[in-house]
Order: sequence, then C-alpha cells, then structure tokens
Amino acid sequence: MSQNKKLALTGGPKAVTSDYKEIWPIIDETTKKAVNDYMQQGELSIKDGTGILDEFETNFARYTGAKHALVQNNGTSTLHAAFFAVGVGPGDEVIVPTYTWPSTANTILSCNATPVFCDIDPMTLCASVDDIEKRITPKTKAIVVVHIWGHPADMDAVTEVAKKYNLKVVEDAAHAVGSTYKGRKVGTIGDVGCFSLQASKTLIGGEAGVAVTNNSEYFDRMLVLSHYGGRIEKDLTSDTYKDYAYTGMGPKYRVHPLAAVIANAQLKSLDKWIELRNSNLNYISNGIRGLRGVEPFDIAPDCTRGAYYGYRVIYSPEKLYNIPTARFIEALRAEGVDADPERYIPLHRQMLYRGASYYEKTTGYKWPYAPIREIEYKDSDFPVAVDLFTRLISLPTFTHDCRDVLDQYIEAFHKVVENADQLVE
Ligand SMILES: Cc1ncc(COP(=O)(O)O)c(C=O)c1O
Repeated sequence: MSQNKKLALTGGPKAVTSDYKEIWPIIDETTKKAVNDYMQQGELSIKDGTGILDEFETNFARYTGAKHALVQNNGTSTLHAAFFAVGVGPGDEVIVPTYTWPSTANTILSCNATPVFCDIDPMTLCASVDDIEKRITPKTKAIVVVHIWGHPADMDAVTEVAKKYNLKVVEDAAHAVGSTYKGRKVGTIGDVGCFSLQASKTLIGGEAGVAVTNNSEYFDRMLVLSHYGGRIEKDLTSDTYKDYAYTGMGPKYRVHPLAAVIANAQLKSLDKWIELRNSNLNYISNGIRGLRGVEPFDIAPDCTRGAYYGYRVIYSPEKLYNIPTARFIEALRAEGVDADPERYIPLHRQMLYRGASYYEKTTGYKWPYAPIREIEYKDSDFPVAVDLFTRLISLPTFTHDCRDVLDQYIEAFHKVVENADQLVE
C-alpha cells in the first residue's frame, strides 16, 4: 500500500534508494578477448569482405535465418542501400511512420525520393496499416516499417497491402534484433531488413549496421551501392552489375573490422541479454498494470519482443487530476526513477521533409536532391502519434540482474499515482 505517503517531490523520502545506473553496452570478457586477439593480426581495413566481415555476416544470416547478410558502417547506410536495392529512385514516394528516428526517412531522400509520413498504431507504436493504405499514390514505390522499441509491426497486414498495390517492403529493424513475428525473425519478412549495431542498440559493434535479404538481386544492388572493387567482384551473385564492380555507385559504406569483431563476439550473448531484458521489463509492466493513468504496452499475439530497445509506458493525465506529463515525470524523477519524456519528435513536423522551397529560402543553397513532393503536413493528420508524443514516458531497459531495483521502481509508480493529489498545483 502506497497511499498517504509524502511524495519525494514534496519533501518525502525517495521510493528508489538504489543507486543503480543502467550500464549498456556490456563489454564482456569474450568481447575484450576477441578485440585483443584480432589486434594481433592488425588488419584494419578489409576491402574484399573476407575474414571477420565474412564470419560476422555468416553468423548474423544464420541468427536471423536470412539468405544474405551485408555488414556496413552503420544502420543508416543499410537503409540507403535497402531503398536503392528495391528500386526507389527520383520521383518515387515511400511511406514511412512519423514516429521513428530521422535515418528511416533521410535515406529515402538519399534516393532522391519523397518520404510520405503515416500515423502509428496505438497498440504497437508501429506504422498504422490503415493509414499506410490512405497515403498510397500512383508514385508510391515502397513502404518502410519500423519495429519500434523492438515490437514487430503487423507484417501480415503490411505484406497484404504491399501485394495489393505492388509495393516493396523495407523493414527498419534497428531496434528489433531478435524480435519474432509468427516465428520468423523480423528483418527477414519484407524485401530487405536493416539493423543498427550502434553502441546503444542490443547487438552492438560501436558504429555499424547490417542488412539482410533473401533476394540475391537486392543483395547485389546493396553491394554495388555501398562498396568498391574487390568486395563487389568477389560477392556478386550474378553478372548484371559486373560493369559497376570497379567503381561501385558512389558511397562507400565499408565497416571498420573492429566493429565486426565486437558485433560477432556480442552475438554470442545476445539471446541471454534479450531474455534478461524481457524478463525485467515484463516484470515492471506486470507490476504497474492496472494503475490509474499509467499503462504499459502489451506484446501482440504471435510476436516476441526481442531487443526491447527502449521501454515506454503511456500516461493519461485525464485519469490523474489532469497533472501534466512533465510534472508526473518530475515526481517520478524525484522518487529516483530514471524517467524521461519521449525523445522521438514526430518527423512530419520537421522542415527537412518539406523539400526544396524552405531549404533554399533559409540557407541560400540549392536543394541537394531531386525535387520531392512538397507536402504541407498538419498535426491533425497524425492524431495517434501527436497525442502519444506528449504522453509517452521512457524508462531504462534494465539488462542486469536487478529485481530489487525493479521492485523499487514499481513502488515509485504506485506511490506517485496513489498520492497524485499532492501534485495538483
Ligand atoms: C529506427 C532507427 N533506424 C535507423 C537508425 C540508424 O542507425 P545508425 O545509428 O546505426 O545509423 C536508428 C538509430 O538509432 C534508429 O533508431
């Protein structure tokens, strides 16, 4: 019972007395040894994709069940390669959820195409398939779904819409390594799947990314966009692109070998960490479920939440004396909870995606891409994302054995909710 307790914000004792700080990534002994061992041979640039690059790609393809894996310098470059691979080009449109990290949309611009934003599903925070369908035009070439915070998008529904309109599907699985949808690893269901191995992700290389596909033509196209000479020649699966093997297509997205060494070593512990994260975060969800004004997310049937990259709860001020989200978070923080407001700003609000006119007027430089459709978005076109943006609360991902801390976090939520009258100003 947490009623009639003085909140820390109003001078009471803190509910969270532990000084736990989420430390991530975990650089374990296996990883340190792998880096040290690798440094004995000292090969710091692998032009032909052999050695550790080949080893990591083989292991990652096996982990996901994909036919091909291509490791690159970051997740953003794998998205660029993926859009290029499926044929996105000047004049095309790609539908992308407004609630994601900018890389998902910026790489559509990199292909000289227009990102067209759609709203999200309130149950999963992934793209709303109904809204995707409303945004399709004769120029739509592809859909990119984001398995946000590790929760799989509704891939059956996405695939059905894509088939109906003859669209390609790119999966941005930057958050979702290890998540499954109906028994399949995400990233392998659409045409191409893209993972970030940046240091805050669940599988890390420091800075790196890896794309997977079951389609050899798409693999070749990613290879030729992102690499040069030796690597392209060695790995092309057909002759179609052999004339471009020496030059590539411009960008060079080769990964640093040490990042591949780290990712390859971390892969050995990935499932253990996923299990720990799931067990801890599901424990918090169960501990706060049913509290007035606070709702954890459920996992959709037939899905597993692999990475659980980021943990969110929804706050509903109207159920709690209309106390604003910022004040509720302030009260949690005063109790010792490492809570934050949502940090992903809906992308439809960002001027970059309005195209040339605004950019040229404000910078004096020419828009660097092909002309895109200049869409004037309104917040009212994205009711779910805009509403949730003001109500999502972020907590740490807890990848350590720390039940005592979780109990204190749960107690802090109970305390703040059950004594919320003290927050009314
Ligand atoms: C949804 C999403 N997509 C793509 C990326 C890009 O990955 P990277 O930082 O490795 O380029 C990120 C990075 O945080 C992301 O969150």
